[in-house]
Amino acid sequence: MIFLLHLFISCITFVIVHGQVQTGYISIDCGSPENFNYVDLDTGISYTSDGSFIATGVNRNISSQYAYPNNPMLPQPLSDLRTFPQGDKNCYTLKPNGGKSSLNLIRATFMYGNWDGENKLPQFDLYLDVNLWLSVKFINASDVVTTEIISVALQDTFSVCLVNIGQGTPFISGLELRPLHSSIYETDPKISGNLMLFQRLDIGYLNGTGRYVDDIYDRIWSPYGSLSWDSLSTSLDIDVSGNDYRAPSEVMRTAATPKNGTEGLEFSWNMSDSEEAKFYVYMYFADVAVLGRNETRQFNVSWNGEPLFGNVRPRAYYASTFYNLRPLVGNKHKISIRRSSGANLPPILNAIEIFRVQEFSEFATFDIDVDAIESIKTTYKVNRNWVGDPCGPKNYSWKGVKCNYTNSNPPRIISINLSTSDLTGQIATSIANLSSLETLDLSNNSLTGQIPDFLENLSSLKLIDLRGNQLSGYVSRSLLERSRTGLLTLRVDSQNVCELGSCQNKKKKVIVPIIASILSALVLLLTFITGWRIRHKQKTREKNMNKEGRAFESNNKQFTYAEVAIMTNNFETAIGKGGFGTVYLGKLRNGNQVAVKLLSTSSSQGYKEFQNEAELLMRVHHRNLASFVGYCHDNNKMALVYEYMANGNLKNYILDRIDHSLSWEMRLKIAIDAAQGLEYLHHGCRPAIIHRDVKSANILLSEKLDAKIADFGLSMGLPNDQTTSIFTDVTGTTGYLDPEYRKSHNLNEKSDVYSFGIVLLELITGQPAIIKNMDHIHIIKYVGPYLEKGEITSIIDEQMEGDFNLDSMWKAIEIAVVCTRKVSSQRVNMSEVLTGLKACLELELGLGPRSGSNRGIQKMGGLRMDHSPEVYSMDFELMTGPSGR
Ligand SMILES: *[C@@H]1O[C@H](CO)[C@@H](O)[C@H](O)[C@H]1NC(C)=O
Ligand SMILES: *[C@@H]1O[C@H](CO)[C@@H](O)[C@H](O)[C@H]1NC(C)=O
Ligand SMILES: *[C@@H]1O[C@H](CO)[C@@H](O)[C@H](O)[C@H]1NC(C)=O
Ligand SMILES: *[C@@H]1O[C@H](CO)[C@@H](O)[C@H](O)[C@H]1NC(C)=O
Ligand SMILES: *[C@@H]1O[C@H](CO)[C@@H](O)[C@H](O)[C@H]1NC(C)=O
Ligand SMILES: *[C@@H]1O[C@H](CO)[C@@H](O)[C@H](O)[C@H]1NC(C)=O
Ligand SMILES: *[C@@H]1O[C@H](CO)[C@@H](O)[C@H](O)[C@H]1NC(C)=O
Ligand SMILES: *[C@@H]1O[C@H](CO)[C@@H](O)[C@H](O)[C@H]1NC(C)=O
Ligand SMILES: *[C@@H]1O[C@H](CO)[C@@H](O)[C@H](O)[C@H]1NC(C)=O
Repeated sequence: MIFLLHLFISCITFVIVHGQVQTGYISIDCGSPENFNYVDLDTGISYTSDGSFIATGVNRNISSQYAYPNNPMLPQPLSDLRTFPQGDKNCYTLKPNGGKSSLNLIRATFMYGNWDGENKLPQFDLYLDVNLWLSVKFINASDVVTTEIISVALQDTFSVCLVNIGQGTPFISGLELRPLHSSIYETDPKISGNLMLFQRLDIGYLNGTGRYVDDIYDRIWSPYGSLSWDSLSTSLDIDVSGNDYRAPSEVMRTAATPKNGTEGLEFSWNMSDSEEAKFYVYMYFADVAVLGRNETRQFNVSWNGEPLFGNVRPRAYYASTFYNLRPLVGNKHKISIRRSSGANLPPILNAIEIFRVQEFSEFATFDIDVDAIESIKTTYKVNRNWVGDPCGPKNYSWKGVKCNYTNSNPPRIISINLSTSDLTGQIATSIANLSSLETLDLSNNSLTGQIPDFLENLSSLKLIDLRGNQLSGYVSRSLLERSRTGLLTLRVDSQNVCELGSCQNKKKKVIVPIIASILSALVLLLTFITGWRIRHKQKTREKNMNKEGRAFESNNKQFTYAEVAIMTNNFETAIGKGGFGTVYLGKLRNGNQVAVKLLSTSSSQGYKEFQNEAELLMRVHHRNLASFVGYCHDNNKMALVYEYMANGNLKNYILDRIDHSLSWEMRLKIAIDAAQGLEYLHHGCRPAIIHRDVKSANILLSEKLDAKIADFGLSMGLPNDQTTSIFTDVTGTTGYLDPEYRKSHNLNEKSDVYSFGIVLLELITGQPAIIKNMDHIHIIKYVGPYLEKGEITSIIDEQMEGDFNLDSMWKAIEIAVVCTRKVSSQRVNMSEVLTGLKACLELELGLGPRSGSNRGIQKMGGLRMDHSPEVYSMDFELMTGPSGR
């Protein structure tokens, strides 16, 4: 708390909150280090570590072969996992916000990634409470198993349990819970079970991952199309507010229609494993155009020839959901959507979800027994992995607890063995509530106090063992009686048995514990009140601080919204789209062209980035940083105005290869410009500023190809006198993101150096950071093997046609290599990069010593690399070689 406040005062600041409103979300990155909370770059979801959900298990990382950056597209939560080498059953306890009876979506994700180095795929069972959810199996080490279930909470908490079935150590990579509106995913009340996701398809959409920021339930929609279908789409928003299913507008905007209008839309699926499989299908419809007066779209939906719903007429731009109230039972399923009579347009379908019913096959333990054993667990602080249901799933009851399972009733606890378990205090009174108890073994502990009378009321008791404790008093007469008739085996120390007639249990000590507990309750209450007050005060203070710290300074660069509108000729020409709005071309009164970045009103995450950028731009000025003309903050309308950069950004400039060719000299000049901008941020600003999103798309080019660094939305000032800082949100762009920062969240200037190294490699090779047409390989992986062999000609951008000084090129490659070393402390800093690049330019211009007429020829192995698994590892001396100054 204090640390954060300090930050707010001492520098420009911001904590970036990503788009999604994550109310009630539980997102666990299983296996991540303790107290390691972060915002996932790709999804914007805030993940936490396992600590508060489970006490058992061991954290592991997947092997580096499957991890970032070797596997650049790997979602961050999958890079580590929690394994369970101990115990048959280990459970996470999830407490949904909505409590008992609330509807929730729970998603578990698994990727083996050869974490144990054994290359042996395990197999294990996943349970939700006492019911089998999935037998988890893998195809290969990089296979990601994701399973999702929709379930009503039967208690205050869900138990997600991993059960060892003797075929390898169970593990889990990610676990998520999303609260759902209670009215949706309605099913037949006569069938009790969970809905397990079978398919969730975004029909008519063929690109992308399908995990949408604007799906409030965070469902993952898979793109789907068919050869006999046509895709329809609209760029307008679909109104999804009318029903609580809330399929995101992006999903609803695309739809399919049959190519042959007289045919229908059909799809089928078969289950070989069960004739009894039950399914629910939820279909989403919205017309993506307003129909003409002479047009009617109306259709009937049937399942295996039986009508499901008739005369469906989707409204234009308005989502509706249809589903079957009775489950569809069988092993063959075919859904047909056909035009009904009177319609002259073919049917459409925007999205569909298919769920299989996972019927409850087992009962949870009798609830009075559960309360009693939970109370015993708390009283004695039992340290035995007593989690989940005490009896279920069958054969996986808690260690030391035995149950009686019958087919038609909840299991009952019939045996408790807590022998030799360091128990102290009295015999727990909650044992009295275990009315089916047959065996009670509390021997060899340090129990004290009287032998309680309630034992005689437990009529099923067949064995009591209380030996080896410091109990006082006597076993009651009726228990002795039962033991004499052979109904009960009674094992007690001799001092607890009295001869008939002399037994008398005394009850005077009772008053002491009562007073003690009243006292402790008072103390607790006091502590609570004090704690609350302090926290309340802190919060209030923080709020005030926040406001003051973040207000814009007033200054003369302020524009009104009307001025911005005039400047851009009513937002006529869009020249780009950024993370939080569109960029428009504008013209100042003096005729200078400007770029106007308008914050879109729907973007909540953009506001802070916007403020951040404005505040920062007002503080820093450098010819290699995007020049700031002014800003507008007028009635919630916000815009930033910059100098216009005629040649757009470097990324597009490189991509657009036909129109632009760039010589090596030009490339070096661009690199030097960008390096100067960064060097100023790192070493010319107090406190130092970390850009955090260095990439070629954020390097802008003027008409004369002078380069400037832009987009400071994510930048971060380090607290004064600190060279490193930990932030809970990792931000940046995949491909450019420093792998060490991604893992450790330890932010320092070397993260920017890494990203800059990637930009430099892009300039050298003409390839993007992640090379899509080579199976999404990371640029470092791509160049590594060539560099190791000293064979650089094949990676240098052909566009330069071999026209460069080879020494200059080598040196630039070396700089890129030392920028992108895995360990940040081994990377150079921006001043060293700048010196090195300037030397490269001198070599290229022929000012430095030239190494003969070797243009375009392969140089003989100059790069010294270790044979460590990481491709890059070179001596820095190499890059300071011929300096020419
Ligand atoms: C996983 O990797 C991270 C980052 O390198 C490290 O901090 C952590 O200790 C590793 N975890 C385990 C269990 O090895
Ligand atoms: C793992 O299996 C998946 C699915 O069959 C496949 O796409 C992928 O290429 C396989 N990966 C490896 C490393 O074999
Ligand atoms: C898919 O991507 C391609 C290329 O980026 C684009 O032309 C096409 O419109 C996209 N299709 C859809 C349905 O968005
Ligand atoms: C469309 O389907 C109908 C009915 O199946 C068929 O008679 C007709 O030939 C098809 N038209 C085309 C163009 O394929
Ligand atoms: C299901 O089985 C039917 C009949 O055996 C077959 O025609 C159909 O193609 C199968 N569908 C799928 C998706 O395998
Ligand atoms: C409806 O009328 C419009 C023009 O009047 C025509 O282009 C269109 O094909 C007609 N649609 C149908 C289904 O007849
Ligand atoms: C479509 O459904 C409606 C209402 O259920 C029914 O009256 C009609 O006959 C069906 N049309 C076709 C072509 O099956
Ligand atoms: C429980 O164990 C018994 C005996 O070991 C076995 O026969 C039975 O199939 C098991 N039940 C389950 C649900 O695993
Ligand atoms: C289990 O419960 C059933 C039904 O209450 C009872 O008949 C049976 O004797 C019990 N079994 C054991 C081992 O206690």
